[in-house]
Amino acid sequence: MNDVVAVTGKSRSGDICSLSFDWDRTVEPGQFVMVWAPGMEEIPLSLSSVGDVKSITFRIIGKDTEALGAKETGDRLSIRGPYGRGYKVNDRKRTLVVGGGIGIAPVLPMMADGLDTALAARSAGELDFALPAADKATGKTWISTDDGSMGFCGNAVQLVKEILKEREYDEILACGPEIMLFFLHKFCVENGIKCQMSLERYMKCGCGICGSCMIDDKRVCADGPVFTCGEISGMKDFGHANRDPCGTRVLFR
Ligand SMILES: Cc1cc2nc3c(=O)[nH]c(=O)nc-3n(C[C@H](O)[C@H](O)[C@H](O)COP(=O)(O)OP(=O)(O)OC[C@H]3O[C@@H](n4cnc5c(N)ncnc54)[C@H](O)[C@@H]3O)c2cc1C
Ligand code: FES
Repeated sequence: MNDVVAVTGKSRSGDICSLSFDWDRTVEPGQFVMVWAPGMEEIPLSLSSVGDVKSITFRIIGKDTEALGAKETGDRLSIRGPYGRGYKVNDRKRTLVVGGGIGIAPVLPMMADGLDTALAARSAGELDFALPAADKATGKTWISTDDGSMGFCGNAVQLVKEILKEREYDEILACGPEIMLFFLHKFCVENGIKCQMSLERYMKCGCGICGSCMIDDKRVCADGPVFTCGEISGMKDFGHANRDPCGTRVLFR
C-alpha cells in the first residue's frame, strides 16, 4: 500500500541528500521503502531514521536520485513499505555496527540507538552527513577514511581489525559496497564472528513477486535485504555477480 507523505526537512552535503517526513509506520533498522514522486521511477531506499520522524538518505547517482534530491520541504512523496527483513540485535553490548560509504545511512538508526559503530568512507567530505548523528551517539564510534583525511587511515575491514585488537564483539551488523561486505564476511567467517549484512540487487516490485532481485535462490527484497553470515556463505553470486534490470547476470569487475 502506498502512503503519501510530505517532506518536513531536507539536508544536503555534496552528492548526499537526506529527506525527512512524518510517517506513522513501525520500521526496523535495515528495512527499506519503495519511494516515488512525479518525474521519477520508483526506487528502493533504506530508512536512515526510524523514530516518529523517518528519513531517507541517498547518494545522487542517476536520474531518479537526482529527481528525489530536487524535492523540497512541503513536496509530497509516495512511500510503499516498509519491506524486507531488517537487522536483529542479539546482544547490544557484544555487537559492532559497520557502515561503509552510503551504506552508513541504513545503520544510522542503530548508532542512534547506542550501539558501538564503525563508519568508513573514502574521504572526510563523504562523512559529513553522518557526523551530526555520530556526535550524538552514546555508543563508541570509530571513523576511518581511505585517504586518511579523517580518523584511521584505511578501509572498513582494516578499521574493524584495529577495533578488534582492543575490544571483543560476537556479532557484526554491516552495510556497504559489496566488495567491502565480501571481505568483511570472509574476516567474520575466518574469525568465528557472527554477522548480518544488508545486500542490494535491482528491485522492481520490492515485495517478493517479480524475482528481479534474486541472488542465487534468495529474493533480496523479501528474504533480505539483511542476511546472516551463514546465508551469505551459501550465495555463489555474493561478491561475484549482479543482475541488470533485464535479469542478465553481470560479473562485478
Ligand atoms: C534494499 C535497497 C536499499 C537501498 N538503500 C539505499 C540508501 O539508503 N541510500 C542510497 O543512496 N541508495 C540506496 N539503494 C540504492 C538506490 O536504490 C539506487 O542508488 C537508486 O535506485 C539509483 O537510481 P538512479 O535512477 O538515481 O540511478 P541509475 O543511474 O538508474 O542507477 C545507478 C545504479 O543504481 C542501482 N539501481 C538503480 N535502480 C535500482 C533499483 N530499482 N533497485 C536497486 N538498485 C537500483 C543500480 O546499481 C544502478 O547501476 C538501495 C538499494 C536497495 C536494493
Ligand atoms: S524486487 Fe520483485 S521479487 Fe524482489
